Order: sequence, then C-alpha cells, then structure tokens
Amino acid sequence: MKIAAALTCAGAAAHASVIAPKDGQSISIPPTKPDDAIVVPKDFVGFGIESAFLNNFANDFSENLVSALAARMSAPPVMRIGGTSGDYFLFDAHQKEDKVCFHGKCGSHDASYLLGQSFFDGYKRFKDARFIVQAPLGNPINTTNTLAFVTRAWKNLDGGRRVQAIALGNEVEFIYRAGAKAYVDAALSLQASIVKELKLQGGAANIFEAGNTASGTVTGNKLYQVYVPKTRKSIKGSAVLFDLLTLTYPSKEILDANFNKNGRISTTAEHWYQISGDHPWTDHTMQSLMINHTAISERFGPYLPSIKATRDRKLDYAITEDSAVLGGAQIHFSGGFGYTLWAVDFNLAAMARSVARVTNLAGRPNAKRVFWTPDNTGGEPSPGPHVRAPFPAAIFVADFIGKRSPSAVKEIKTQGDLTSAYAMYDEKSGTLRRVALVNMRLYNGTASTNRQRLSFQVNVGSGVKQVKVRRLRADKGVAAMGYDFGGPSNNVSWAGEQWSHGVDFGKGHFRTGKVEEHVVKVDNNGVALVVVPDSEAVMLLV
Ligand SMILES: *[C@@H]1O[C@H](CO)[C@@H](O)[C@H](O)[C@H]1NC(C)=O
Ligand SMILES: *[C@@H]1O[C@H](CO)[C@@H](O)[C@H](O)[C@H]1NC(C)=O
Ligand SMILES: *[C@@H]1O[C@H](CO)[C@@H](O)[C@H](O)[C@H]1NC(C)=O
Ligand SMILES: *[C@@H]1O[C@H](CO)[C@@H](O)[C@H](O)[C@H]1NC(C)=O
Repeated sequence: MKIAAALTCAGAAAHASVIAPKDGQSISIPPTKPDDAIVVPKDFVGFGIESAFLNNFANDFSENLVSALAARMSAPPVMRIGGTSGDYFLFDAHQKEDKVCFHGKCGSHDASYLLGQSFFDGYKRFKDARFIVQAPLGNPINTTNTLAFVTRAWKNLDGGRRVQAIALGNEVEFIYRAGAKAYVDAALSLQASIVKELKLQGGAANIFEAGNTASGTVTGNKLYQVYVPKTRKSIKGSAVLFDLLTLTYPSKEILDANFNKNGRISTTAEHWYQISGDHPWTDHTMQSLMINHTAISERFGPYLPSIKATRDRKLDYAITEDSAVLGGAQIHFSGGFGYTLWAVDFNLAAMARSVARVTNLAGRPNAKRVFWTPDNTGGEPSPGPHVRAPFPAAIFVADFIGKRSPSAVKEIKTQGDLTSAYAMYDEKSGTLRRVALVNMRLYNGTASTNRQRLSFQVNVGSGVKQVKVRRLRADKGVAAMGYDFGGPSNNVSWAGEQWSHGVDFGKGHFRTGKVEEHVVKVDNNGVALVVVPDSEAVMLLV
C-alpha cells in the first residue's frame, strides 16, 4: 500500500455499439490519505426547499425521500427552508389558511405571503432531518413579525433540537444595498432579539448563518451586479424600473465587517447557479457549460476567498442553494440525467474544497431543476408528484462519504474537461475506502445508439484482491428524465436502486431485488480495470 497508486485511462474496445475512445489518459491516486485530504462533515448532503412551499413538501412521499437519504448517513441531513419568499413573510395568528399570497408573482418565490398558524406544521415533519430556519429579514426589519415566525418554527422543530442554523436573511445584498456594514448592523440587532426571545444561553446561541449570498453576486455576473430592482414590484418589470447597484458583497466582506464579533455565527452561506441567462440550448451547450468538470472547477475561483475567510475563522462554509441551470433551458436540459451528473461532480468538487454542506434543490413544485416534485401543483412543464432524475445523485454522494467512520476526501487530477475522480479515505486509519469516477462525456440515448466508454486502470494497491463497482446510470444517458416523468425507458438507477413516487412512494426499490454491483479482480500489480460508459458515474468500494 505504500507504492504510489496509479489510475490510468485508455481506450477499450467492446461490443459493436460501443466505440473505443481515442484519448487515453493516466492519473494517479495516493494509496493512503494525503495530508491535504479534507475531512467531510457527516451531514454534508441535504436538501433545500423554497420557504413558501414548505407545506407542499410536508407529505409522506417527501418524507420517505428524505428518510432514504438519512438512512445512508451517520448524521441527520440538513433541510434548508429559505429563499426570496422567506424574507417577506407576514404572520397573522387568526388566519385559517397556511398561507395567502398578497403581493407579487403568486405561486412563485417572487411573492409576499401572509402566514397562518398551520404554516408551521411543516416544521413538525422530517424527523430524520435538521433544519435551517430563515429569519425574515426585511429592510427595515419588522422584529415583532420575525420573532413570531422564528419562535413558531423553533417550537415545532422539537424546541430547537432539530434546528441546525438560523439564517439571517436570504441574498441579503439585494435587501441591504448600502453594503456589508448595513447588513451586519441590521442583522446583529435582529440576532440579539432572537437570542433573547429564544433564551439561548452560551454556545447554544452560536447558530446563526450569514449571507446566503446570490450566485451572481459571487461570480460578478454583470446583470446581477449592476442592476437590481428598485422595488419588489418591479422585479419582472422593464429595464427602466431598475436602478444602479453600487455595492455587492460576498461572504468574505460580511465576515470582514465583523459579523462574528460575538461568536454567534456558525456558517456563512452562498448560492450557486452554474448557468444563468439565455443560451441556445443544445447538447453542445450542456456539454460545454454544464457537464464539464473544468467549467465547474473554474467557477469555484470567485468562491474561494469566502471559503478561505470562513475556514480561517473556523466556521462552516455552505452552499445552500444550487443548480446547474438558473432559467431558460427546457426541462430535459435543466432537470434530467445531465443534472444528475452535474450534481454528483459539483457536490464532490465542493467537499474537496472544504465546503461543509450542499443543500441540493427540492425547490418548489413548479421549478424544472429539482430533485423531486412533491405534489401536482406545479403543472406544465413540471408536473408531479415525481422523483426526478437527479435524486439518486444525493444518495450517491451520501454513500461516497460513507456511514461507518469519519472520512476524508481528495480530488484526483484527470486529463481533459470531461472526467473527474475523487478518493475517499478513512480519516483515522488513512486507508483508501472508495473511489468515484465521473465520465461526463455526453451520451444522448434519444439521438444515438453508439455509446462510447472509457476504461480506467485504478491502482488500489497490491494488498487488495478485488474491488466492487457500483454504477449511477441511465440507458438514455443525459436524455433520461427518471421513471416517474418519462416512464420505463427513462430509468435512472444507483447500484440497481431506483426511487419513484409511482412504484415505491419514495422509499426506493431494487429492480432485481438487491444491490447491483460487479466484482473486478485486482491484478498482481494492484491494478483494477474499470470500464465507465459515457455519461455515467461509478464508485469503487475498495
Ligand atoms: C409587522 O408584523 C406584524 C405581525 O406580522 C404585522 O401585523 C404588521 O402589520 C407588520 N408591520 C409592518 C409595518 O409591516
Ligand atoms: C469545458 O469548460 C472549459 C471552461 O469553461 C472550456 O474552456 C472547455 O472548452 C469546455 N470543454 C468542452 C469539452 O466543452
Ligand atoms: C437528445 O436528443 C434529442 C433528439 O435529437 C434532442 O431532442 C434532445 O434535445 C437531446 N438532449 C437531451 C438532453 O435530451
Ligand atoms: C424501469 O423501472 C421500472 C420500475 O422499476 C421497471 O418496471 C422497468 O422494467 C424498468 N425498465 C427498464 C428498461 O429497465
């Protein structure tokens, strides 16, 4: 096990419909945990729900999906209930309905809702999970209202025992446009009111999440950076209703403005939408901008200063809202198996860069880019209830982290834009436990029957006799939409397991009744030959 392990990749001839790749490549895996491997938090993978739609998700089906994830983890997954709608909630204790829309684009996140008592029943659900509660943070703050909200959520989350964090606002640079200091001043005063109201003592008060900075703010997307709506009314209005934004501030600036002076911040959070704006969507767009490891890696560039600033202060840095596509693309580009591959690589790349948590989008019923839709309220083009193609990506990520003992991850360099590799080690013993290989070369099973593949030679060490290989796959490649959406030709499975509303109500089922995996013998030099078809991710269990 002391010999440097090598992972090489070369063309493999196979049966008739499979074309051998021209590009061979060679990469190497450290046989034992390298010093710079990153310890992965046990609750790394979770889900995010847009605030106003909590009760659409408060059903047995969604709960089964969350429990399916929790069962693979050694700590409760985190559910982020947050988003634009969550900052504009008002509360009326006498209202019968759980929510009534009174302003804006009703049915979406860009609207204002008046909540009744029953809204908070949603927080009684998902007992296997912990929650991020977003404290409504308007400008100015309506403290009475925010405390009415936070105390009710807190009570229903088992008196705070299932609260992972209290987020002070969402995409706060759009609300406090005068700069980080304006946000920090307002949020600190709200924080003090919350601490007092909930009677949080000592370390129990150190649970606040900062920022939830918008994706475009971090990356300097001009449209986002330069123009913000003058009033909430004008969000969908014309350009003349927009005014100039002079200051934007990622999480680093919020920390630099001394937000954590009282030690009560636990996490800074930012958002990530890989592709925003209009693009002519074709498979080429998907390959070049989305399922492309170089594109994902390079986009971390502007995030790194805030990740570092957060980690330097020994706080957690989380990505609490993320997807490949913000808008514009048809659902088969934004919500199919291409998103699954993107989500796997994004989650693994994030954990390898010290991101403590990713809460993947369950979102809202009418969004296209979601892991599942909870009910039938979304309508076209996002009907439901459905488990969508990306859902198994969350299970893959959880299984890669593993359940037994703490793990540490290391990204392994590959050549070219379209493959990635990650090694997972036992944190204590340093033993190599699992290897994830992602082949993002686009295969569209609707357009073509020829599926190419790559064959990797993985050196797992001469002490190992065999490895087990499990696959995250779809016959249709990136065109697969999942069984509930597209029927039996659109299946997406992980190690032979699928999740479906129609078949198993979100509990998961195996097509053959058991885990599907195959054993690969390790040769005398410690090398396992592993074949990965295009648009597929595999995991080696060492
Ligand atoms: C503040 O919140 C309370 C409780 O939700 C509400 O009754 C009141 O109208 C709000 N005030 C303003 C100025 O919006
Ligand atoms: C992947 O993304 C990088 C960075 O944006 C780009 O330069 C490259 O052309 C893309 N690769 C492919 C195969 O589209
Ligand atoms: C796959 O191919 C079909 C048929 O050419 C096309 O309509 C579709 O846009 C392609 N991409 C995806 C992701 O389905
Ligand atoms: C797809 O999944 C369904 C539900 O498990 C199953 O009945 C069907 O046989 C599968 N189809 C294929 C082609 O594997």
